[in-house]
Amino acid sequence: MANIKFFSGEKFPLEMHKVKIVQKLNLIPIEQRLECLTQAGNNSFLLKNRDVFMDMLTDSGVNAMSDQQLAAMMQADDSYAGSMTFDKLESKIQEILGAQYFLPAHQGRAAENILAESFVTPGSVSLMNFHFTTTKALITKLGGSVEEIVIEEGLNPTSDYPFKGNADIDKLKEALARLGAKKISFVRMESGTNLIGGQPFSLENLRQVAQICREAGVMLILDASLLADNLYFIKVREASCAHKSIREIMLEICALADIVYFSARKLGCARGGGICTNNQALFERMREFVPLFEGFLTYGGMSVREMEAITVGLTETLDEDMISQGPIFIEYMVDELKKRGIPVVTPAGGLGCHLNAMEFVDHIPQTEYRAGALTAAMYLAGGIRGMERGTMSEQRDAQGNEVLSEMELLRLALPRRVFTMSQVKYAVDRVEWLYANRRLIGGLKYIEEPKVLRFFFGRLASTSDWQDKLVAKFRADFGDSL
Ligand code: F0G
Repeated sequence: MANIKFFSGEKFPLEMHKVKIVQKLNLIPIEQRLECLTQAGNNSFLLKNRDVFMDMLTDSGVNAMSDQQLAAMMQADDSYAGSMTFDKLESKIQEILGAQYFLPAHQGRAAENILAESFVTPGSVSLMNFHFTTTKALITKLGGSVEEIVIEEGLNPTSDYPFKGNADIDKLKEALARLGAKKISFVRMESGTNLIGGQPFSLENLRQVAQICREAGVMLILDASLLADNLYFIKVREASCAHKSIREIMLEICALADIVYFSARKLGCARGGGICTNNQALFERMREFVPLFEGFLTYGGMSVREMEAITVGLTETLDEDMISQGPIFIEYMVDELKKRGIPVVTPAGGLGCHLNAMEFVDHIPQTEYRAGALTAAMYLAGGIRGMERGTMSEQRDAQGNEVLSEMELLRLALPRRVFTMSQVKYAVDRVEWLYANRRLIGGLKYIEEPKVLRFFFGRLASTSDWQDKLVAKFRADFGDSL
């Protein structure tokens, strides 16, 4: 990572790239933002991007691509079967992830679908440091269940533990003893653990998990979607890895798992996904699902252009300037908010800055979706689109009861190399204003609630006229400002 100090002594992240292509943004007045929000059923997924100023919904498929990636896309070998572009990607996977076999899939959840179809049986349990929404939905759809074994610190938003994505080794051993290896479909470790704030695991923790799995005869699967962030954190926070190159750490991590899968909408900054393994039997078992669900074995639902972009993107993941950009911008944002006394998840993780809605709007009942309400309010305050990561994103239990999430987070994602410093400062300013006016924020209720992954396209209404009051306060404080 570039070591650049400022004469002023000030500390802030410096971009190690320049902007070559731009997209014009709109910031519509707050009254129009309220109209758009109402039309979107108070669900940030349903907002139109033209009505959004800072799209901090996700990093998925919206990271800025490099000139090298764009150039490679022009050289793609377009063929249904046996594309040379696939061979390039496969070789890159072999080189960087150290896996002999690669199965392409159109995105991360498509890889998860293949894993679930291959290994989940009714009544089986998948152990994981923490679930991801699509992972859990695909497992439960097949009659399996998910048990989480993340360490206690992982669920404490203000812990300063550096590896909050670690698995609790005692919980893992206890679950193995209680359930027995036969009942366990697999153990899954998620890098850059998404739903608890983009928090990493340590290499040492993964080593321990892998050893226990091996001894118990249970398969270990690594979700490498957010591996770039996790690699950076291992490099800077795990003393025993400080001298290692990113390439070495990456190979070591991947060698510990029986199967590695990823969303290339995140890892590699393109669009697509895939599954990697060195185990021929596992490879053959999963392979049959690729032509069935995805496409032929040499594209798996991806365009050849995207496969070229992934190949270059994976190479760029070895560059510390590249993988540090997201985390250091996020750290800046988290630190600025912390200085202002605003509840944020610490230490800063990857993927985005996570506001702790449990505390931010502790006056709203959790059944009225604290994080969902804060997400709606954030759009009103700044045209900033974040993502609810809390009860709204949970699925109801088998009896139809609401499952209250352990964490209520508003994720403000920082897609890699997309936003400038001044935009981040704007976001901090609007969060600060919202915090000063937090008591004006009220709750939400579902008016249309889909049965599966309800947060994606469910519609909600506010439980009072709190949004009008927030708009009026904005006008009183900001005058004619957008
Ligand atoms: N695993 C993790 C850790 C993820 O964060 C995601 C996606 C997936 C799997 C599924 O991959 O979207 O390519 O199908 N996360 C996105 C997000 C949706 O916004 O955090 P996908």
